[in-house]
Amino acid sequence: MAMVSLAPDTASSSAKVRAATDAPAALICRNLWKIYGANAEAFLRENPMPTHAEVRAAGLFAAVRDASLEIRQGEIFIIMGLSGSGKSTLVRCLSRLVEPTGGSVFYEHQNLLRMSPAELIQVRRHKMGMVFQNFALLPHRTVLGNVAFPLEVQGMPKEEREARALKMIDLVGLTERAGYYPRELSGGQQQRVGIARSLAVEPALWFLDEPFSALDPLIRHEMQNEFLRLQRMLSKTIVFITHDFDEAIRLGDRIAIMKDGAVIQVGTAEELVLNPASDYVSAFTRHVARAKVLTAGGVSVPVTPGEALGATVPARALVAEVAEVVLTSNLPAAVVDKNGMVIGKLERANVIANLVGGVP
Ligand SMILES: Nc1ncnc2c1ncn2[C@@H]1O[C@H](COP(=O)(O)OP(=O)(O)O)[C@@H](O)[C@H]1O
Ligand SMILES: [Mg+2]
Repeated sequence: MAMVSLAPDTASSSAKVRAATDAPAALICRNLWKIYGANAEAFLRENPMPTHAEVRAAGLFAAVRDASLEIRQGEIFIIMGLSGSGKSTLVRCLSRLVEPTGGSVFYEHQNLLRMSPAELIQVRRHKMGMVFQNFALLPHRTVLGNVAFPLEVQGMPKEEREARALKMIDLVGLTERAGYYPRELSGGQQQRVGIARSLAVEPALWFLDEPFSALDPLIRHEMQNEFLRLQRMLSKTIVFITHDFDEAIRLGDRIAIMKDGAVIQVGTAEELVLNPASDYVSAFTRHVARAKVLTAGGVSVPVTPGEALGATVPARALVAEVAEVVLTSNLPAAVVDKNGMVIGKLERANVIANLVGGVP
């Protein structure tokens, strides 16, 4: 009986070290609202669940509507949605860079929305790192000066902060460019500086808002690999915004889909592909290579008692990874869980349907 094993560190998407699904929640938001316009707080107090029409009639605009999320420790949590769906606003509410109009945000059991400005600044300076799409580097500072900047703000002595900054610069492979100015760097290099700067304070929480969206596809792919490499070393709790489902699949443990300010579904890529909550969700997943998202376990079907099975494939393996074994066998493959228990079978027709993108 052939056993398909998964290489622990290949270039495939399965090389990502998935965060434990039972890890405790690190960051929680409940019923979060951000309404723009005059007297939005009073409006929300009087109308705790306003519709879009009601918000509009009051001359206001709801950028985030009743969003609730639990982001687990060590997880890469993706926020996806069309442009204008409220992704940036939601993530800024999580760090209170944007003041939410209602709801709560808990980090380490503390409600961020109840913190004093001074406490909040401490949390942001010491616990949170942020990377933005437009790099936002200081043009008159070198790479070293940029990366050391957040430590300077913390009041760290020069020698210590430069040593720490050089460590971060080394982490992103820019040691030889430490004395360069942003204008002397390519887009990819500038974003590496942005990443090093955001890591300088050694944050537990790392927010990235479309960090690679402005980069060429090739550089983008390279940066994604780089990002996964860093996360394997650093194991941070990450909230990563993208509007690209392929990027979400490559990087994310779980994905939240936003539409018109609301979170309409949260799940793994496989869950979103197999059970989309709406047409809006399916539209995002329509062009995805299903075989690279679906697992043997996710698409397996029950075994008939006494049925002969051929090769054994792990439930967590991607359909793409086990396709050859299943397709070259005359018998259906046995799908086994991590204890070696058979949980179902995978047939050729099933694999073919998923490889060519049809309905399984
Ligand atoms: N300061 C603001 N005042 C009014 N509306 C805003 C403000 N900031 C963002 N918005 C609106 O909120 C919506 C969500 O914006 P944003 O969070 O940037 O979306 P995304 O990041 O998904 O593209 C958009 O329609 C935007 O125009
Ligand atoms: Mg945005």
